[in-house]
Parts: sequence; C-alpha cells; structure tokens
Amino acid sequence: MENLIEKIKKLKQEKNAIILAHYYTRPEIQDVADYLGDSLGLAKKAKETDADIIVFCGVHFMAETASVISPDKKVLIPAKAAGCSLANGIRPRDLIAWKKENPGAVVVTYVNTTADIKAESDYCCTSSNALDIVNSIPEDQLVLFIPDKNLGGYIKKVTGREKMEVWDGMCIVHELIDTDTILKRMTEYPEADVLIHPESNCSQDPKILDLPNTYMYSTAGIINHAKTSPKNTFIIATEQETIHKLQKDNPTKTFVPIADNTICVNMKKVTLENLLDCLEKEQYEVKVPEQMAKRALIPIERMLEIK
Ligand code: 13P
Ligand code: SF4
Repeated sequence: MENLIEKIKKLKQEKNAIILAHYYTRPEIQDVADYLGDSLGLAKKAKETDADIIVFCGVHFMAETASVISPDKKVLIPAKAAGCSLANGIRPRDLIAWKKENPGAVVVTYVNTTADIKAESDYCCTSSNALDIVNSIPEDQLVLFIPDKNLGGYIKKVTGREKMEVWDGMCIVHELIDTDTILKRMTEYPEADVLIHPESNCSQDPKILDLPNTYMYSTAGIINHAKTSPKNTFIIATEQETIHKLQKDNPTKTFVPIADNTICVNMKKVTLENLLDCLEKEQYEVKVPEQMAKRALIPIERMLEIK
C-alpha cells in the first residue's frame, strides 16, 4: 500500500494533477486526496484549481460536472463504472415532457444528475444549498425539483412552498435510512445527536424532525456539527465512510453508523490500484460535448453564484 501511495503522489506531481475525493470514498482514497469534500465543495474546487488534470475520485456525474466547470482541463475518473441511482433516475426525455406539461416552471436540479439533464435545467443545487436556491425563486413561480424525492420533499416542507413538485427519484443508500431505523438506533444511544442527510427516507417525517436531538444536514454540515458540538456521541445517518473523516477530526468522540448497510458500492469502486492506473494511463477521460456543456454550465454557475 505504501508503495502505491508513493507512486500516486509522484505521478500526481509530475503531471500537475489534483486528486479530488468525496467523503464516501474508501479511507485510503480520502487520505491520498488533495481535497476532500461534499458535492458543493468539490464543484467549487474543480472551478478554482490551476492543475492541468483533475482526477475525480467519486461517481461519474461528479466528474461530468467538473468537466463542464473546467472545460480546458483533462478530467479523469479512476472507476469507469461508478454510477449513481439518483443520476440514473431521470432521462432527458422525461424532463422535457415534464417541462412541456408545466410551461413557465423553474427547474431546480440536484447536482446528482447527468450533464444532459443539467442542460435542460434552470438552477442546479446540492444538499448544502438547495434551501437557499429554492428560496431565491419567487413564491408565485412553480418549481419542478429533480430528481430526489426525499431532498425535494424536505425542502418543500421546510420552505412551506406550495408551488413545488418533486420527481420520484431516490438514492438507494439513503433510502434505507427510514424512521424505524433512526428510532431504533436512538434507543441504543439516547444521549447522541442524530445527524441525518436529507436524501434519507425519513427526511419529512415529523416523528424524526420534531425530536430535539435530530439535525438534517448535507455531508459537510454533518462534519461541521460534529466538530463544533459539545456532545460526545453522534449517530451518523448517511453513507458510513463519512465516519473516517469525522473520527480523524474528532479522535475522542464516538460516531455510530445508523445501520450496517449504508454503503455506496459505486463510491467504493475507486481503489488505490485504479487510481494509480488512472494517473499512469490518463484514463478514463470524462468530457462533456461542447454544446451540452455550454447549456449545463448555466444552471451550475447560477448555483455557484448563490452560494
Ligand atoms: P452531498 O455530497 O451534497 O452531501 O451529497 C451526498 C451524496 O449522495 C453524493 O453522492
Ligand atoms: Fe448516488 Fe447515493 Fe451513491 Fe451518492 S450515495 S453516489 S446519491 S447512490
């Protein structure tokens, strides 16, 4: 493993490459990354970097977003088959038909979508800024929120917005985090704060939202809460690799995964071996076609301007 890490670091320097990794990747990938972040942080980093090559340790739509933001850079992904159930949950023709049924509606698209969907959208958002983005749209305009029913439903509930419709997509990992699972873990750790990602199935349930120790956050929000809270024990209701970063930042605190099965197999497809291959062979390049990238950039830039 040491040998692999040394080779990765050396090649990265030689090729002026930056390694970006999401919090859900394997611990050894998180440790070798130049920047570790959630979807919003990673998109911002892809915009500001002056590296020649961006190696995106995450899933395919994230690399596509980086390619749209930085079209002059070579964007590589170590695991070609790293997809996402949310991104696969809506096709361009579905969105085009939905827009036709709702002329004049504003399309707010979660960043977990393919570039061709973003090209048909008005605004992008991540779980960190979805609330601000939706709040920035006048109340009397209909919002079509795609593709995550749980995040969309949560935003609709919190804003109290009537003119908002939500697509029926979901993340197969966060969908496992339901009310019963949360309540069961809470009985085992009654003293803990419960930090929940809004992609979770329970995100709109008052049985959870109204409890004093439950908080709804993006992955970066979860990390920030754990750092600043005086509490010692936290139940982590999101993809469980996030605990690697949490434990590193807070060695004396206790982090309990919400369940054993909250694992994104797609994020785990990135390994040290295929990361080294990626740098050596400069594979697999993710390049969004120019015309599509130009259209997809508009909603992404609107998102980055708002927050
Ligand atoms: P964030 O990185 O915005 O928290 O989203 C979570 C996720 O599921 C990424 O695929
Ligand atoms: Fe997609 Fe869910 Fe995996 Fe994130 S955790 S990449 S939303 S399947």
